[in-house]
Amino acid sequence: MVHLRFTFPQVIDPEMVLPVHYFKAAMEGNTNVGSLANRAADTCRILRSKHPDDPFVFHLSGMVSLVNGNSEAAKMFWGQALLMEPTYSDARETLEEFLGSAGTDAYLKKLTKGANFLRREHLREARRLLKAGKLGEADDFIQKACALMNPGYSMLEDYDTCRATAEMLRQAGKMDAAMCERIEDLRVLWAGVDGNAIDEAEANFAVAEDRKQFAAIAAEVLKRRKSDNVTCFELGCFTGFNLGLVRETLGATWAERVSFHGLEPNAAAVAYCRGRYPFIQIRQGTHVDLIDGGVPLPNILDACLIGRVFQMLHSDDVSVVLEFLGGRVRHLVIADDVVNVDGEFPIIRTPLYIMHNFRMPLEAAGFVVEDVVFADAPDRLCTGFIVARSEGIG
Ligand SMILES: C[S@@+](CC[C@H](N)C(=O)[O-])C[C@H]1O[C@@H](n2cnc3c(N)ncnc32)[C@H](O)[C@@H]1O
Repeated sequence: MVHLRFTFPQVIDPEMVLPVHYFKAAMEGNTNVGSLANRAADTCRILRSKHPDDPFVFHLSGMVSLVNGNSEAAKMFWGQALLMEPTYSDARETLEEFLGSAGTDAYLKKLTKGANFLRREHLREARRLLKAGKLGEADDFIQKACALMNPGYSMLEDYDTCRATAEMLRQAGKMDAAMCERIEDLRVLWAGVDGNAIDEAEANFAVAEDRKQFAAIAAEVLKRRKSDNVTCFELGCFTGFNLGLVRETLGATWAERVSFHGLEPNAAAVAYCRGRYPFIQIRQGTHVDLIDGGVPLPNILDACLIGRVFQMLHSDDVSVVLEFLGGRVRHLVIADDVVNVDGEFPIIRTPLYIMHNFRMPLEAAGFVVEDVVFADAPDRLCTGFIVARSEGIG
């Protein structure tokens, strides 16, 4: 049993009422406050930027992160509170509950170099373990790095745990229902994104490191083409920022040779794309429209990008989409959670989405996996990239 130390203020600063009450209610076992999780995390984020030197704000942020299921961010905030005020006993004792006394000192030493130092260290360790073929252990560090990047979000379950759960669900004949439940939640989530959320998503995604890496990989694949009529398509392109980044990465002169095509079900995102990226020939529709042949596209697509869409689809649909693309796409570039690429069956990355065992359906559809690249800056939904070449196209 972990003991958290938190001295509730006699008088609560009005700015802090929500996160303080949220944490208090959670400690009292009040399960009705779950709907406040995001608002509490958001308020803490704003408080930290308004009061960057207030250790209480950081200690409180740690408590909210912990309640929200992100112990990595919680430790970071308690550590930051302690670095600001080394005698802050609430923060010290709480951190020691997790790391012990010597562990806390060692952690603080690293944290003085910045949260990014910790993140980079996790990623270095992940890469070392990946090289040694220790995927499950590597994933643990990838998830820790993602948690530090996203203090407002809960940590996702690690690969080994997710795999064991999937195995259990399969044996109980419940995997299909579990997948469908995830898929429906994500479909509703993305269908509902509009207005401000689109502006915000566009502003964040178009500068995100993993999106830039995705675009760089796609641009490299496109540049292998010598022809003057190069084609590039993205399924589930949202506002088109990935294609925008690919064009930017290619450079204006090279990009003149490329026709860009997108397919996206969200009407608001399609409208945004038409205004922001007029060079993209975008259509509204889903993967079903694609495989039904209802989307006019060039006969051969030199590059097809699929970023964080397969994780929202049933494994049967992934197979059907890949089969459709098999004879049409020269290079497929997938950005997704790729940790299960060589798995025997799909797994649910609890509690969010599906991690497909990509190699199997890719090969069945006539693709050869050329490369699996782990993301330099992984995100919760994207641990890496798969580059696959269609065997049937010269
Ligand atoms: C997680 S977002 C990814 C957006 C973008 N591709 C990226 O790399 O960030 C998922 C996107 O897929 C779209 N989408 C949802 N269901 C889809 C489906 N059945 N077929 C195609 N796209 C879909 C969503 O509207 C959303 O734009």
